[in-house]
Amino acid sequence: MTTQIPTFHLPTGAPIPALGFGTGTAWYKSESEPLNRVLIDSIKSALALGYRHLDCAEVYGTEPEVGVAINESGIPREELFIVAKSLKTLDDPEKGLNETLRKLQTDYVDLFLIHAPFLPPTHPLTIPQIWARFETLQKSGKARSIGVSNFTVPQLTSLLTHATIPPSYNQVELNPYCFDAPLLRFCQSHNIQLAAYSPLGPLTKFPGGPLDGVVKRIAEEKGRTESQVLIRWGVEMGVVVVTTSSRAERQEEFKGVDFELGEEVMREITEVGGREHHRIYWTKDYEN
Ligand SMILES: NC(=O)c1ccc[n+]([C@@H]2O[C@H](COP(=O)([O-])OP(=O)(O)OC[C@H]3O[C@@H](n4cnc5c(N)ncnc54)[C@H](OP(=O)(O)O)[C@@H]3O)[C@@H](O)[C@H]2O)c1
Repeated sequence: MTTQIPTFHLPTGAPIPALGFGTGTAWYKSESEPLNRVLIDSIKSALALGYRHLDCAEVYGTEPEVGVAINESGIPREELFIVAKSLKTLDDPEKGLNETLRKLQTDYVDLFLIHAPFLPPTHPLTIPQIWARFETLQKSGKARSIGVSNFTVPQLTSLLTHATIPPSYNQVELNPYCFDAPLLRFCQSHNIQLAAYSPLGPLTKFPGGPLDGVVKRIAEEKGRTESQVLIRWGVEMGVVVVTTSSRAERQEEFKGVDFELGEEVMREITEVGGREHHRIYWTKDYEN
């Protein structure tokens, strides 16, 4: 089955594929480890299937694998949409981005993100100071757009009061068990593209909850899989969805989101998902 991945647009007008291929979570490794050939081949498989949006971060330790996979794929750089995130190097974002570019074997990223707003009290820079440096990086062309990850409405509100260039993207954990409707509305009204990581959490991490039967029934009604229903739920809300798999058959499956759930089904999934709350990542930071 050949399906097109839908495209959204960032405030700069740049197109962004609505489905990203993640190179973190299950792929996480220390950079002192040798190159992970399974990851390189998985990225190449995803690219061969039509994925063009790669979600990366310095802390995943996998930027070198992404660079090798892109090179070996032979796909021209301008056809790709590469997201990078800085965390360890937020005390010197320019140095961090230069290192990221070297590892990714490219001279720009399409989006450069502050990976998380949770900085230790001893951090030498505040978020507004870091953002000012990110703005310089966007002006330099090394980052075509800049954004954030794991920011809440109060954190975005505060950032917007200081920003000259507003963030164009906010990537957060988002699935029906981890859905912040006010954050979606805030991002939509401020022209910030919201993106979802861990979209499959309800199936893979929290089975046994109230969504199980509902998602199964909808998948049967629509002639789709349960993963496709969860991914489509994000895309149909206008959210970029970042998923990943080491298996080509799942990569192909996840792409199959060219169908409609419709308003009533969308509401049902949101309502039933809202009966439980589960977060996988950054749990302690979100509590504070
Ligand atoms: N900004 C942040 O702080 C942040 C945090 C977390 C993640 N991310 C990004 O988001 C990406 C995706 O995150 P995620 O991995 O949590 O997303 P996900 O799409 O919810 O989960 C993907 C994982 O689920 C497994 N999986 C898929 N279908 C399955 C099934 N039917 N049964 C069992 N396992 C199944 C896959 O393993 P197989 O390989 O076996 O298919 C893969 O490891 C990451 O790679 C990273 O790029 C960002």
